[in-house]
Amino acid sequence: MNQQVLVLIKPDGLKKSLTGNILTRLSETKLEIVAAKMVRVSRGLAVEHYKHMKDKPFFEELIQYIQGTLHDRKKVMAMVYWGDNAITKVRQLAGATNPEEADPTTIRGSYGRITTKGLYENVLHTSSNEAEAEREIKLWFQPDEVIVDLYPTKIIEVKAETKRIWA
Ligand code: CDP
Ligand code: MG
Repeated sequence: MNQQVLVLIKPDGLKKSLTGNILTRLSETKLEIVAAKMVRVSRGLAVEHYKHMKDKPFFEELIQYIQGTLHDRKKVMAMVYWGDNAITKVRQLAGATNPEEADPTTIRGSYGRITTKGLYENVLHTSSNEAEAEREIKLWFQPDEVIVDLYPTKIIEVKAETKRIWA
C-alpha cells in the first residue's frame, strides 16, 4: 500500500551535520522523496505542528526546539517520502521517540540525546499514521511543492496578493 510520510530533520540533526547520514539511512527504505525544502519555522507553524502536545509540561521547550532557538539553527529540512508502507518503514528506521529506549542501530538511537531538562532531542520527526501524515504534509507543503498528487486539490482565485520577489 502506497503511503506518504512527512519527515523533518530537526535543528539538532542539522547542527550535528547529520543531514547526509539521515538521508543515507532513509534511502535504505527505497522510498521516493517527492518533496523537500529548508524551512524557517515560525512560531505559528511550530504550535500548529505540535498542537496535540500543548498540554505537555515541555511544550514551550518543544516549540523552541523545532524553531531552532535551542540550537541556534533556525531551520529544519522538510521532506515527504512516498512508497509502499512508507510510514512504518520510516518510523522503524527512526526508532523510538525516547533516544535512550531507541534501538542503537536506529537513527534516533544512534544520534539522539536527552537534555538535562529532560527533552528528547531525537534529530528527526516522522508522521506516525496516515491521518497525521495528511495533516502534517498539508501544513508544511503546498500542492505544487510536491511532485505527485497526494491529496485532492482545488483551484481558487487569489486577489490582491502581494509577494516578495527578487529586486
Ligand atoms: O516524534 P514522535 O512522534 O516519535 O513523538 P511524539 O510523542 O509525537 O512527541 C513529539 C516530540 O516531542 C518528540 O519527538 C520529542 O522531541 C518530544 N518529546 C519529549 O521531549 N518528551 C516526551 N516525553 C515526549 C515527546
Ligand atoms: Mg508524533
